Amino acid sequence: MCGIAGYTGEARALPVILESLYRLEYRGYDSAGIAVEEEGEFFLKKVKGKISRLEDALMETMVHGTSGIGHTRWATHGEPSKANAHPHFSEDKSLMLVHNGIIENHEQLRQKLTTNPEFKSQTDTEVLVHRLAENYEGDLTEALRLTLQEVEGSYAVAAMHLNEPGKLVAARSGSPLIIGCSGDGNYIASDLPALLDFTREVIFLDEDEIATLTPDEITVQTIQGEKRKKSINSISWDAVQAQKGGYKHFMLKEIAEQPQVLRQAMQGRVDGSRVVFPNLELDEEVLKNLKKLTLIACGTSHHACMVARYWLEEMTDLHVEVDIGSEYRYRSLNYDAGTEMLIAVSQSGETADTLAAMRKVSAQGVPVLTICNVLGSTMAREADDVIYTHAGPEIGVASTKSFTTQLLVLFLFSYFLGRLRGSYGEQPDLLEKLIELPDQVDSLIRDRSLYKKIAREQFKKEDFLFLGRHLNYPIAMEGALKLKEISYIHAEGYPAGEMKHGPIALIDEEIPVVVLGPTSRVYSKMLSNVEEVKARGGIVFGVSMVDDRSGLAEVCDYQIAIPQTAELLTPFLTTPPMQILSYELAVRRGCDVDQPRNLAKSVTVE
Ligand code: M6R
Repeated sequence: MCGIAGYTGEARALPVILESLYRLEYRGYDSAGIAVEEEGEFFLKKVKGKISRLEDALMETMVHGTSGIGHTRWATHGEPSKANAHPHFSEDKSLMLVHNGIIENHEQLRQKLTTNPEFKSQTDTEVLVHRLAENYEGDLTEALRLTLQEVEGSYAVAAMHLNEPGKLVAARSGSPLIIGCSGDGNYIASDLPALLDFTREVIFLDEDEIATLTPDEITVQTIQGEKRKKSINSISWDAVQAQKGGYKHFMLKEIAEQPQVLRQAMQGRVDGSRVVFPNLELDEEVLKNLKKLTLIACGTSHHACMVARYWLEEMTDLHVEVDIGSEYRYRSLNYDAGTEMLIAVSQSGETADTLAAMRKVSAQGVPVLTICNVLGSTMAREADDVIYTHAGPEIGVASTKSFTTQLLVLFLFSYFLGRLRGSYGEQPDLLEKLIELPDQVDSLIRDRSLYKKIAREQFKKEDFLFLGRHLNYPIAMEGALKLKEISYIHAEGYPAGEMKHGPIALIDEEIPVVVLGPTSRVYSKMLSNVEEVKARGGIVFGVSMVDDRSGLAEVCDYQIAIPQTAELLTPFLTTPPMQILSYELAVRRGCDVDQPRNLAKSVTVE
């Protein structure tokens, strides 16, 4: 989704903001712009397309101004175009504003305008800038505060006025925004990677807060005018983690980082045959009294929840429900706050639908735990408790390492809960096998030659089918999601048992079928499904264990071998082949792997 960057300090603002915008590219965008205050007026440049085009347009521009704002826009109201790109400005160009999110009552705000400004774009944002100009009486913070009281919708905004040089005003409600602080000046950004080159000291703005930044001061108040004292947080992520580090794509780097981040996510949590969460503050009595657990997420994170349902059902006596945020938020449900808990799972901790579902449940007094990756994210701050996945910054739009670390945390939490409630015995062997996983994942991702060969042969295909059962049914769905989002090949993930109820009609020699068949309780059933596909001329790529001698590997056209592990842990090893296969197919098709068309990394609007 859109990205905001801003700087006020001693350095030239243009390169700082440009660098921050590059770091926000991964969020997805279709146009970009920048405004810098320069000798009593604003220097403004906007382009349709990539930030590199903006940089080209700025070549040889000598702008020395030391405060400015920038934006990457992901179109909602109005097509991607230079005119619709941000910053937007007031009629006299004394006011510049950038905005993420959606102004739902933009039509009413337009009716409210007392002046008659000439609109230059089709955006909802431009109404906001004109209304802000009308409310301005010499204090930008106050004008923004009054204006935002009139706004309905979700937003993060940043604005500057020529009458108040060196001052940036920023606010958020429903879209993330953070403030960076350093001796060289202060920063605004939508996300941490945009700040890591400059500082690791940050302030997380809360909902409905407005920050006023000058080069050496930051003050925060609410939209209602109540002063806020904010603490400064030190972030352990570093800038190098958010760079490609010699890899061709972020996605490839993030796939390769999985062994290391899995180790990181296990650290301090596995102790012999025990699982501990040292920072978990949820009352043990709450966990012991639970009868029902609901897991909510979107996209890839939802697939992690689907896998977790099998673990939770195996290790605990709980009734477990899993739903997608955008569906769950509109369901009519009754809650029992004393015996229920919600787990919201999200890489970003900002996904609008998951957040809305979480708030809906929280309002009923039901405890909410979030499992997320981004420190200080909205979900992490609003939930009753948080377990971090420790995957480090994930920049590629396709979730990879965030998924496997979500799986890890969910597995550990299921085990922890099972032990706490006395419904699952100690399983030292299982935890020993868990500890082997990082090395096994490492062995899986080192050699990509088989995937390259498959990609060479199959890259022109327009449809793929992914089949799995039980724990590996969600992984089949994840394989299909990965493939479609980065290669634009149509793909479906199906529970293999459903084949006879419809999808088998699709099978012919034109549709590659990826079958997830590690040794498990459903192995023989998977074998029968493969036979059925083969009997109809299908090409089958079977993911099975390295010593699979019971037939599946032989029946398949290709075997993608994974190391031996316990049945419950197989999703950790069937996932990397899905990621690499999608990656190689997308590369072969010449797709923009890290920033697929129409997609955003963090979906902060409904
Ligand atoms: O940040 P979240 O985990 O809440 O994001 C949810 C989905 O938008 C995300 O998993 C999406 O499906 C991935 N980009 C898919 O790779």
